[in-house]
Amino acid sequence: MTRYPSTTTKLVVLLGHPLGHSLSPLIHNTMFEHLGLDYCYLPVEVTRENLTVVFNGLRRMNVVGCNVTIPHKVAILELLDELDPQAALLGAVNTICFRDGRAIGYNTDGQGFLRSLKEAGMAGVAGKNILLLGAGGAARAIAMSLAAGGAGSIYLCNRNRDKALALAEEINEKIRPCAETVAAELSAQRPVLKRCQLLVNTTSVGMHPHHDQLPIAAEVLSAHLTVADIVYNPHTTRLLAAAQAAGCPVVHGIGMLIHQGALGFTLWTGSEPPIDRMLATALSHLAKLSATG
Ligand code: ATR
Repeated sequence: MTRYPSTTTKLVVLLGHPLGHSLSPLIHNTMFEHLGLDYCYLPVEVTRENLTVVFNGLRRMNVVGCNVTIPHKVAILELLDELDPQAALLGAVNTICFRDGRAIGYNTDGQGFLRSLKEAGMAGVAGKNILLLGAGGAARAIAMSLAAGGAGSIYLCNRNRDKALALAEEINEKIRPCAETVAAELSAQRPVLKRCQLLVNTTSVGMHPHHDQLPIAAEVLSAHLTVADIVYNPHTTRLLAAAQAAGCPVVHGIGMLIHQGALGFTLWTGSEPPIDRMLATALSHLAKLSATG
């Protein structure tokens, strides 16, 4: 039976801009209904100028938590009362819980990524050498979590190398001295990849509608590498298709989306959502999107 929100429904609000393509409302509302929880997940597009007024309004409503996405993951920090250690380390928040009138910030992105690796069959990251493409917000959460998880060497490769350098320095100072940068050129990437067990794309290259783009030349891929892409639309990016063709185990981007969301779901509700059902919900929606172009 479909539930409709009432005055006692607990709200979870997604704050970001733009939100039109977010899968989170579909995934969370489907799970609330499946588990019979009187919750509702509501996307609210909010600009930077309106973030403070909207957020302070949420504190006075029956809102139990939030997800925060682009462009507010850092700006939201100053509006919170408390940060969990992971969010404090990253200096970015993607999940909020309201408890006893206090707004507590969490970051489940890095943990979500590590869980998606594990689910895809990678036992752990300890001692693994990793080439990570990108140096933006997602790269930061993932690289920091890999470093904290005991990765061997983390090689950061970004179009803008200064950003990669700044991230490497931050990781080396705050976590462990394990990060360095690599030029975004085949001649530099090739020897590094020979020493790596994992390649992670955190850039937006290959994302719909630019699904024909590759973030690294396909010729450097070989079967000793596990290849992870955080792009989830399309489900199998051109990078992952090339990796499969080269015999590499692959980790689809949808895994990180699902696991970071599942961690938030548990923080808000105290219940663990069924991962396989979340995945099926997301995949059937993505399949419909790709069928309609
Ligand atoms: P997110 O929060 O999703 O990580 P972001 O912080 O805007 O988003 O970072 C996007 C990443 O994708 C950056 O590493 C960006 O590279 P630059 O720092 O050089 O801008 C990378 N990126 C985006 N488009 C790219 C492209 N066409 N080629 C190479 N890298 C690209």
